[in-house]
Amino acid sequence: MPTDHLKVLVVAGARPNFMKVAPILRALEAAGHEGILVHTGQHYDTTMSDTFFRELGIKNPDYHLGVGTASHAVQTARIMEAFEPVLTKVHPQWLVVVGDVNSTMATTLVASKLRTETHMHIAHVEAGLRSYDWRMPEEINRVITDRLADLLLTPSQDAAGNLLAEGIPEANICFVGNVMIDTLMTQLPIARATNTVEQLGLRRRHYVAATLHRPSNVDDPEALAAVLQGLALVAESTAVVLPLHPRTLKNIERFHLGPMLTPLTVLEPLGYTEMLALTEGAECVLTDSGGIQEETTALGVPCVTLREQTERPITITEGTNHMAPWPLTPRGILTAYADSVAAVAQAAPPRPAGWDGHASERIVKALEDRRPVKDYSAS
Ligand code: UD1
Repeated sequence: MPTDHLKVLVVAGARPNFMKVAPILRALEAAGHEGILVHTGQHYDTTMSDTFFRELGIKNPDYHLGVGTASHAVQTARIMEAFEPVLTKVHPQWLVVVGDVNSTMATTLVASKLRTETHMHIAHVEAGLRSYDWRMPEEINRVITDRLADLLLTPSQDAAGNLLAEGIPEANICFVGNVMIDTLMTQLPIARATNTVEQLGLRRRHYVAATLHRPSNVDDPEALAAVLQGLALVAESTAVVLPLHPRTLKNIERFHLGPMLTPLTVLEPLGYTEMLALTEGAECVLTDSGGIQEETTALGVPCVTLREQTERPITITEGTNHMAPWPLTPRGILTAYADSVAAVAQAAPPRPAGWDGHASERIVKALEDRRPVKDYSAS
């Protein structure tokens, strides 16, 4: 191996990680570096994991930790316990973690405690996003991961300000752009060719796509009923398609809210390309997902975020995203839907800077430029 070759351990655990690691692994390979993939197994269903590997051409994980679902503490502990020996064995120069799920935070915590012995460095992709809502598990994961990582790779220019305000040195922050958009741009032609919209019996721009999985919306029966009622109001004038996350499905059953799904077109969780096709063809997307707020902005599709706040405010200031009035009410959701469609029809903004399909190349460049001082290429 050449001496400038990097050994990089990349972690993925849950659905929103897979579209981020796919282009990073490809860019590492293209630059002649070694990308080693760890799947923690936080998500494990075919529809939540395997489909994404297949569609996005992600190699089989070099290590699969098989942790599965558990409480936050148990899931985090299982990931940490299973990840430590992998890290010690692989001995990478870089650990690359993405996003804000439990797998991101747990593996960062393990690596940061082994750093002194191994001289390994940690890079966080999607650093600096903040909702300032400590009730969100993801906010805790983001803050801890950013505090411990050596290199903070930001997806949008506003993220650096959040990190600087927390005392992170400017030298550790590097704006690389949004790596999810790399995947979106490669997959868009494939998504268009799937004819997903037509196969579902829908007409482009004549339906609304919805996704729901945040604990704040789906773990409380009243909150969940209010959102489903809001979707039902929208469904009085247009079709509403709802691919159902396993957490949401379980709670609908547990709270006996099944009849509230009758006015909606309910689907199993979709794979990446089908979901992209559904999003691109929609008149509007109603969602509590973080990634979909970004994808709708990149596609110029109106989006209503069904949350109290967003850690991705750039999708509002430079995108197509609108916050539904909080607390969520059925009428509020209906009004936000109509307002967002009207606003985007007037002026669809251009994509934010760095959402150009080349973030993964800039990530690899950042890893090369700041390679750990000790050379492990021979080990
Ligand atoms: C996790 C992430 C969240 C991300 C979301 C995307 C954390 C804290 N949360 O939340 O940030 O937006 O993934 O999906 O990391 N389940 C299955 N099959 C699976 C995975 C999960 O049935 O493959 C079920 C589990 O049994 C559980 C529920 O879905 O009841 C929730 O799964 P979990 O991974 O704990 O959290 P998510 O809500 O998916």
